[in-house]
Amino acid sequence: MKTVMLVFGTRPEAVKMCPLVNELKTRAAFRTVVCVTGQHRQLLDQVLKAFCVVPDCDLSVMQEGQTLSDVTTAVLTRIRPVLERTGPDIVLVHGDTSTAFAAALACFYLQIPVGHVEAGLRTYNTRAPYPEEFNRRAIGIIAQYGFAPTEEARQNLLREGRRPEEIYVTGNTVIDALKTTVRDDYTHPELEWARGSRLILLTAHRRESLGEPMRRMFRAVRRIAEERPEVRVVCPLHSNPAVRRAAEAELTGCDRIHVIGPLEPPDFHNFMARSFLILTDSGGIQEEAPALGRPVLVMRETTERPEGVRAGALRLVGTDEEAICRNCRELLENREAYDAMARAVNPYGDGTACRRIADILEQAL
Ligand code: UD1
Ligand code: UDP
Repeated sequence: MKTVMLVFGTRPEAVKMCPLVNELKTRAAFRTVVCVTGQHRQLLDQVLKAFCVVPDCDLSVMQEGQTLSDVTTAVLTRIRPVLERTGPDIVLVHGDTSTAFAAALACFYLQIPVGHVEAGLRTYNTRAPYPEEFNRRAIGIIAQYGFAPTEEARQNLLREGRRPEEIYVTGNTVIDALKTTVRDDYTHPELEWARGSRLILLTAHRRESLGEPMRRMFRAVRRIAEERPEVRVVCPLHSNPAVRRAAEAELTGCDRIHVIGPLEPPDFHNFMARSFLILTDSGGIQEEAPALGRPVLVMRETTERPEGVRAGALRLVGTDEEAICRNCRELLENREAYDAMARAVNPYGDGTACRRIADILEQAL
């Protein structure tokens, strides 16, 4: 039996890795070991609970106000004895977080093979997203197996000199997650509050958005809520205190805006499915929303998810207050423009990515 170890530590990694954990656990060929770093605490624990995943090991690295160096060094140091004790045949990491980068580096130092889930996303700008673009490129150098969500991601890796036999197009595991969370009979008090209105779902958390760009995003949404009686806004906040401070400064005191705590993924997915429009700087939401037929205004200067933009589901609007307002108004007023975005075809797979990755690992190991 081969030992497959999965390492993750933040909310988005957990949403995308938990379905893979659950798939691997059904396979007799594998001993599946889950090591969480605890880079996030509350946000991570919400996801573990929602997908009924109990970690075998928890590095508990999170600190209030942690720096990138704090997370990277804590993960690098604390994971080594776990890797030595467990002796995995392969370690799977996800995406582009500090957790994924440090775990992959620790494996490289111990010469343990690494599989990179959600490989090949690129903006080719190491400042945006920061530090994620660096992390995913560095992991790309280390990993022996690349599980690319799309053909375009695969092409990025091939252009960087990766061998075709190491790269597999699997779709994104987040679509697998959505299949288990969205329900027709779902209700929630916040959705009752928004019933009969056009619900705008708002999230923001990126490091490069913190400060003035995030304030501009929030001010734009507030202007839309104030000028449009048909709109209600729900903003589930990331646990970063800097995000809370920006929301408190810009979003409080408007009756049509509710700022709430972070939602568990099943709640968040059902909120998305019932939204008129989503405004975000998130990566994962850019993949989920097209699968749910919900238009997204991406409040960033660049995206590593060009497939969704080309499909017409995402619009990259930047962080200028006027531009965000203008795009919101257009979608509120122009039915044709709205329908074109809502009808776009999801380019991120058919919800079988976990099965494909497990099949590939069974063959390869
Ligand atoms: C991290 C990832 C980013 C990902 C995001 C998803 C890196 C470098 N960044 O960014 O790619 O998009 O997660 O959400 O890995 N905090 C809490 N409780 C929590 C979670 C975070 O208090 O449950 C606090 C931390 O203590 C820290 C701040 O929020 O002060 C930021 O957390 P951190 O993990 O450093 O970075 P994120 O911005 O969340
Ligand atoms: N999400 C959630 N609750 C929330 C907001 C987001 O469960 O209140 C989920 C969302 O569905 C997606 C993931 O968190 O699966 C995205 O995480 P985030 O935006 O924090 O990070 P990114 O994808 O930008 O790295």
